[in-house]
Amino acid sequence: MKLLRTRADLSDWQSARAGIPRVLVPTMGALHRGHTSLFDQARNEAGKDGDVIATIFVNPVQFAPHEDFDAYPRPLEADLEKCEARGVSAVFAPDVSEVYAADRSIMVSESRLSTALCGASRPGHFDGVCTVVAKLFNLTRPDVAIFGEKDYQQLALIRRLVRDLDFPVRILAGPTVRDDDGLALSSRNTYLSPGQRAEAPILARSLREVAAGIASGAVGSPSEARQEFLDRFAAASLARLDYFEIVDAGTLEPLGSFSGRVPRLIAAAFFGKTRLIDNVGLPHD
Ligand code: PAF
Repeated sequence: MKLLRTRADLSDWQSARAGIPRVLVPTMGALHRGHTSLFDQARNEAGKDGDVIATIFVNPVQFAPHEDFDAYPRPLEADLEKCEARGVSAVFAPDVSEVYAADRSIMVSESRLSTALCGASRPGHFDGVCTVVAKLFNLTRPDVAIFGEKDYQQLALIRRLVRDLDFPVRILAGPTVRDDDGLALSSRNTYLSPGQRAEAPILARSLREVAAGIASGAVGSPSEARQEFLDRFAAASLARLDYFEIVDAGTLEPLGSFSGRVPRLIAAAFFGKTRLIDNVGLPHD
């Protein structure tokens, strides 16, 4: 596995690997089983002779000044071992100055899908994500890029970015990986106190139970579903709900009714200062 720290390293590696199918998994590091499952999916997609490139870059422009950019975990050595163990071909792990010019003055801005849900709580966050992902696509030039479904809004936005700016890359979604008690894996789970960690699965459980109610017909409308969710989540004594929405799975528009739409249930909640997000579709029978 190659460790690429600079644009020049990346460009040399690309020249040597020209014509070989390339699958990109962008990450901010602090890798867990959610990421390694994306590496496995990427390897499967690339084939044994293809290349899987992971990026490890904590992107400053997607963090607000009061957020956890400085505290975000950066265990590079352990991350590289995980990449190597999963058959990643190369890791691009640049410094901030390698990615952004000091006088940078252009951002990629999305104005429709990014305003609600997490975008409402984190203004500017998705412009930062779209900007860095556009740059990573330009730098690494992948055929395919894989993003986790846990960040459902991010995934929808990146599909939109690719469509609207004509990036020649195919986007694949990686299913959310969960702990045994249902909590979606996230690098931020390590911030939780033992009490918060014990309570955190209520987010996934409430989403899953409401989705099951919709699928069985017991919950007939989005407003009933909202009430069901709020009733269940009220049992969380250490959490504060940020939002719960039922949206169209493709456009992220809030649903007034279920008819003819594919619903996605999506929520975020604070456990102390830690903001966790999760989402589910309807269970298949
Ligand atoms: O999901 C993430 O880890 C980040 O938002 C991403 C896509 C790597 C961009 O920094």
